Amino acid sequence: MRIAIVGFGSVGRGVAKVLIEKRSYLRNLIGDYRVVAVTDSKGGVYDENGLDLRKVLEIKRRKGSLPEEITSIEVVRDLDFDVCIEVTPTNVESGEPGLTHIRECLKRGIDVVTSNKGPLVVAFRELMDLAEKNDARLMFEATVGGAMPVIKLAKVDLAGNEIISVKGILNGTCNYILSRMEKELLPYEMILEEAKELGIAERDPTYDVEGIDAGAKLVIIANALMGLNAKFEDVERVGISDLTPEAFKVALENGYTIRLIAEANREYLRVSPRLIPLNHPLAIYGTLNALEIETDLAGEVFVIGKGAGSVETASAIISDLICLKSLRCS
Ligand code: HSE
Repeated sequence: MRIAIVGFGSVGRGVAKVLIEKRSYLRNLIGDYRVVAVTDSKGGVYDENGLDLRKVLEIKRRKGSLPEEITSIEVVRDLDFDVCIEVTPTNVESGEPGLTHIRECLKRGIDVVTSNKGPLVVAFRELMDLAEKNDARLMFEATVGGAMPVIKLAKVDLAGNEIISVKGILNGTCNYILSRMEKELLPYEMILEEAKELGIAERDPTYDVEGIDAGAKLVIIANALMGLNAKFEDVERVGISDLTPEAFKVALENGYTIRLIAEANREYLRVSPRLIPLNHPLAIYGTLNALEIETDLAGEVFVIGKGAGSVETASAIISDLICLKSLRCS
C-alpha cells in the first residue's frame, strides 16, 4: 500500500508516528506499506520507494515546514499512490483546500481517509457519489468524535438498524469549559483562555464556542448515518458564550447541569446548551465526547470517548486504513 499524507499538522504527524511505531503490527493487518509523499501548506517531500518518516518528522520539527519539492495539489493530481490521508485544516464554508484534494483523488480512483470535516459538510453526497462512480472509498471516522467510534460503529456493528436519532456532546473544548463552570462557578471568559492551552480548540476557538464545530460534525453524522442530505445552514445553533455562573447555580440547585448538546432527528438538527440531569450519561466531564444513538432494532446505544488530540484522531484514521484493506466496512 502506497500512502500519501496531505497535511502535516498535529493530526498528520500523529498518523506518521503511529505508522512508524506500529509498523510490524500494522503490516499483519494491511500488508507492507510505504509513505510516498508528505505535504504541508508550504511544500512537501516524496519518494516512490518510501520516505523515512522519522526524518520527515525531524525536518518539520526543526524547520516548521517541509521543503518545497512537491505541493499537495501535485500529489493528488499527478503522483502514483493508493491511499490519501487528507488531514489539512477544516473550512466549513468552502471545504477547501481539502475538498479539491479529496475530489482529485476520488476521480483517479484513489481511496481517501480524512479527518477534515469541511469537505464532508460542504459536499457529502457529491463526494460519496464520486467515490462510488470511480470505485474508490472515502473513509471519515476521524471527522466526528476523534477516537470515539461513531461511523463504523453504526455502519458495521449496528448494520441492519435504522438510525432514528443521535444526541450527544461533540465538542471537547466546550465540554471542558462547561465542566469547569459547573464545578467552580467561574465566568466563561476565564476558562476559555485555559481551554485554548489544552491544544484541542480549533485554530479559531469561535468554531468551538459558537457550536460551529459541533454543528459540522452533526451534519456529517446525520448525512452518513441517517441518510439525510443536510447542509450546515440547516443546523439551528446556539453557542455557550452567553452562559453565566448564575445559570449553573440555578441548574445545580435543581439537580441539573448544562452541556452543549448536538441533536439530529427527522425533524431538526440542533446544537444548543441544554439542561442535563446530573446523573444522566451525557453529564460527562472534561474534554470527552459522548453520543446516544437511537436505533429501531438495538434500541439506544451509548458511546463515550476522546473526541480530539493528535494520537486519538490518528486512532480513527488508522482504523479506517485497516478497514479499507481488510474489511468491507463503509
Ligand atoms: N476543537 C474540537 C473539539 C477538536 O474541541 O472537540 C476536534 O474536532
